[in-house]
Amino acid sequence: MDSQLNEWPEPIVAVQSIAESGAALIPECYVKAIADRPAAPAGAAGKDLSIPVIDLGRLGGSAVECRATMRAIADACREWGFFQAVNHGVDADLVDEMVAVWREFFYLPMEEKKKLANSPQTYEGYGSRLGVEKGATLDWGDYFYLHLLPNCAKNFDKWPTKPASCRKITEEYGRQMANLCGTLMKVLSISLGLDVGFLQEKFGGDEIGTCMRINYYPKCPQPELTLGLSPHSDPGGLTVLLADHRVSGLQVRRGADWVTVNPIPGALIVNVGDQIQVLSNATYKSVDHRVVTNAAAERMSVAFFFNPKCDLPMEPARELVTQDRPPMYRPMTFNQYRLFIRKKGPMGKSHVDSLQAM
Ligand code: OGA
Ligand code: NI
Repeated sequence: MDSQLNEWPEPIVAVQSIAESGAALIPECYVKAIADRPAAPAGAAGKDLSIPVIDLGRLGGSAVECRATMRAIADACREWGFFQAVNHGVDADLVDEMVAVWREFFYLPMEEKKKLANSPQTYEGYGSRLGVEKGATLDWGDYFYLHLLPNCAKNFDKWPTKPASCRKITEEYGRQMANLCGTLMKVLSISLGLDVGFLQEKFGGDEIGTCMRINYYPKCPQPELTLGLSPHSDPGGLTVLLADHRVSGLQVRRGADWVTVNPIPGALIVNVGDQIQVLSNATYKSVDHRVVTNAAAERMSVAFFFNPKCDLPMEPARELVTQDRPPMYRPMTFNQYRLFIRKKGPMGKSHVDSLQAM
């Protein structure tokens, strides 16, 4: 393992503890360069745009409805890299319980949470920074990161024991999310003109990986100076985000603009990650997104990541490579790929772009 990843380069301060101290100014290390602040660029177009909303229940409808829905999903993944899924089949009570137990976790005393403090080796546990670059500008957010699959990567020692129901609820939520992603993988495979199981198989079949990051963005006294999460694309395959519908914060890149997502109550936000962009030879896009903070309300989100088996080389599917469309990326395993991210933290789309075949 890389020695750089043994420990954090600076002592970790939970953003929540800064926010709760009542400071009127944010510490210097959270102040972004002017070009990186939320107001710039002030995209006019961004105001009227929104990511597509897709009713997944229609996949189980008539053949015509099903085809139209598959087309809508594929179009969203090509054009936006994002959509909101309604009627997604995930148990609504479970979703509410998931939010409730994790809110309770973040409300535990700091000493309790710090017992599960994470390191950059695996990132599992309670953390407040991404990347190990000394002197980096930090994001205004804390998180809890955990692995669900494969089973050998699931380490209950690093999971909260309080609240007591956290484990069971999180595992069941993870199972339902993996099912949803399994369905979407089929839709995306068919829409590429490939066999229904194509993408899943390329991901390692039953040996896929799943993990979760529960994000907690405290109120921020100077939201115009910082970000809750810097621009990044998600490194894995697919992401399903559960976001608070009362507090917006997620923004998706659209050309030079940032389009704010206004979550529909009960909806889940789905986005394409870098590995699907690579496998699909850039047919589906893994799109930059970021989180803005606000002074009025804290915000929580649950990001579920559906990833390939970590030691398989990922490269554009041969079936999608033609004379006119040569392979866009060099092969790399997900293990190698996420090592970059663990070191550097969120850096827009520079990781996937660096794989571009010369
Ligand atoms: C992520 C992410 C967005 C949000 O965790 O990768 O993009 O709204 N989260 O918290
Ligand atoms: Ni993300």
